[in-house]
Amino acid sequence: MSIRPARIEDIPQILKVEQRAASAAHWSVEKYQEIFNDVESLRRMLIAEDDLALHGFIVARTLGDEWEIENIAVAQSSQRRGLGSVLLQRLLEDARIEKAQSILLEVRESNLVARTFYEKFFFSEYGRRASYYHNPSESAILYRLCL
Ligand SMILES: CC(C)(COP(=O)(O)OP(=O)(O)OC[C@H]1O[C@@H](n2cnc3c(N)ncnc32)[C@H](O)[C@@H]1OP(=O)(O)O)[C@@H](O)C(=O)NCCC(=O)NCCS
Repeated sequence: MSIRPARIEDIPQILKVEQRAASAAHWSVEKYQEIFNDVESLRRMLIAEDDLALHGFIVARTLGDEWEIENIAVAQSSQRRGLGSVLLQRLLEDARIEKAQSILLEVRESNLVARTFYEKFFFSEYGRRASYYHNPSESAILYRLCL
């Protein structure tokens, strides 16, 4: 398995993983394309792949010294094998190298798998936004990791 920055030609496989992950954030093709086409894009995206397929990705927005993880998903058949951890660790390494001070994210209150995942990496809760998500309506739990 290798981790590398995403390329525009990865979008179809990224979408396949994302669309099958019900609890992931769901973006349009255009929003993914912006990452690569917009020279001012502040987004970073990493993917995990082997010779057969793309198995997972992580995408973050870099806002000066504050980064925000916007999405992470691992294909169901590859979950719980450490892949999400490798993607997150690689992003954290990049953030440290680029002197980010903190990494933020929000997650559905009921997404206990993702919350357990982030808490394993010492993200801590700092707030909640009521009814932040729709379909179904649900609060967002806000997490932060100070680097
Ligand atoms: C969250 C997600 C990316 C984790 O990826 P993964 O590759 O399965 O995670 P890892 O194997 O690296 O697991 C790391 C830790 O996360 C936690 N974790 C992962 N899956 C878990 C599960 N099903 N139940 C409980 N804890 C879990 C555990 O603490 C685990 O450490 P451990 O295996 O030593 O117990 C993956 O579950 C996923 O794609 N979920 C659907 C999309 C999603 O909800 N994204 C978050 C949007 S905010």
